[in-house]
Amino acid sequence: MKKVLFVASEAVPFIKTGGLADVVGSLPKCFDKEYFDVRVMIPKYMCIKEKWRYEMTYINHFYMDYLGQSRYVGILQYVQDGITFYFIDNEAYFSGDKPYGDWFYDLEKFSFFCQAALSSLPVIGFQPDVVHCHDWQTGLIPVYLKDRFRGGEFFRNMKSVITIHNLKFQGVWDVKTIQRFSGLPDYYFAPDKLEAYKDGNMLKGGIVFADAITTVSQTYAEEIKMPFYGEGLDGLMRARAGSLRGIVNGIDYDDFNPATDRFIAQPYNIKNFRKEKAKNKRDLQEHVGLPADDKKFLVGIVSRLTDQKGLDLIQGVMDELCSEDMQLIVLGTGDERYENMFRHYDWKYHDRVSAQIYYSEELSHKIYAGCDAFLMPSLFEPCGLSQLMALRYGTVPIVRETGGLKDTVQPYNEYEGTGTGFSFANYNAHEMLDSVRYAKFVYYERKREWNKIIDRAMAQDFSWQTSAMKYQELYDWLIGY
Ligand code: ADP
Ligand code: GLC
Repeated sequence: MKKVLFVASEAVPFIKTGGLADVVGSLPKCFDKEYFDVRVMIPKYMCIKEKWRYEMTYINHFYMDYLGQSRYVGILQYVQDGITFYFIDNEAYFSGDKPYGDWFYDLEKFSFFCQAALSSLPVIGFQPDVVHCHDWQTGLIPVYLKDRFRGGEFFRNMKSVITIHNLKFQGVWDVKTIQRFSGLPDYYFAPDKLEAYKDGNMLKGGIVFADAITTVSQTYAEEIKMPFYGEGLDGLMRARAGSLRGIVNGIDYDDFNPATDRFIAQPYNIKNFRKEKAKNKRDLQEHVGLPADDKKFLVGIVSRLTDQKGLDLIQGVMDELCSEDMQLIVLGTGDERYENMFRHYDWKYHDRVSAQIYYSEELSHKIYAGCDAFLMPSLFEPCGLSQLMALRYGTVPIVRETGGLKDTVQPYNEYEGTGTGFSFANYNAHEMLDSVRYAKFVYYERKREWNKIIDRAMAQDFSWQTSAMKYQELYDWLIGY
């Protein structure tokens, strides 16, 4: 049996701020259980809902020297769908009402987490063959596995993989600070290791020292070798190109299933969506206070409201976008600038725009099910899960051709009768507007064609099956057969 440990900063169903949590929580279930024992380790945040925290079982604890003090490290466990999740407990570090907040404190917190995670393995007696790290929060782990944790027998042959979910966030501060938090010697703070542009960089450490690097789509794997998407690390990505591969994300096909979804008013499937899907549209319109109208073209957005998601394109053409023959519903939180922009348009065009500025799993499902189209004009998108959810629910995605959006949405071709959505290439508000207008035209004027796009969208398979195999191959290759 091959043993793999996922270490990450979030995982569904316990704690989620974005797609990282969906991946870390849903992928481990999809490995071949006969050959792979995959477990997950995340911090035990105080903001994890009580219902989960109270059901965790305490396993053990120890004290670890960190920043000149002896610190408590508790280990708890919860088994969910046959997968063991471990939680690293330290109330001082993991309190607060969200997992991240203050940049500086987060660096200290996740440096602590990386050291605590590895130190806890001998204590719980789980010796993974591969430690699979995710994003900058776990970037120090591959470094430690080549350094201070290498001495003993226990860690000697442990391999590491790092998956880049978003290259924009790297865990950067001045060298002195990162050196203090990580406890690594001077040797590591050179431009070929953890130093980048004279600062200390935790993700860079992970990328330099991991045995393999993956990112969450093939297109993003290519894009990050170029300056525009490389976030300053494109040179490193080119240098490590031989160890980098893109494996596209999937989604949990049980949690996101229009035929069984408990959050939506009317279950439906690929055979009966023509009749049944509209009931979800009406329910959604009533739910958010838009005029109930089966015929009106209803576009949805579910997103973190940040620059990454292309919201300045939307802002640039909002008046043109919100024409009389369209309704727009937005669910999201993030930058105040965008939150207020959508609130303003909700006020200005109250019968066409609905801004729901909060987090709600339930409403997100109602939007995936109830809308006609889903808008995601991202500036960059490592993979994107929302468009996969939209496809699954037959809600036609309108996307920019970047990263995973390019790999998962096939543009509609009216001559060949192919495609699962609409897309545009350049980061340009009017190109986006043209795509929305084209989609609207097909919706109103070519209804049969529109329904065929839905047919093709719902027939796609973005479950984890294929991608889980690719991770398995990677683990096999790293461990040796
Ligand atoms: P990212 O990870 O960059 O935020 P993804 O598309 O990969 O983008 O994943 C976003 C995930 O977060 C999806 O599951 C989406 O439904 C969910 N999500 C984003 N904002 C909200 C919100 N306000 N309420 C509920 N779910 C949300
Ligand atoms: C990141 C990316 C998103 C990706 C998700 C899960 O948050 O922004 O594109 O789908 O990670 O890999």
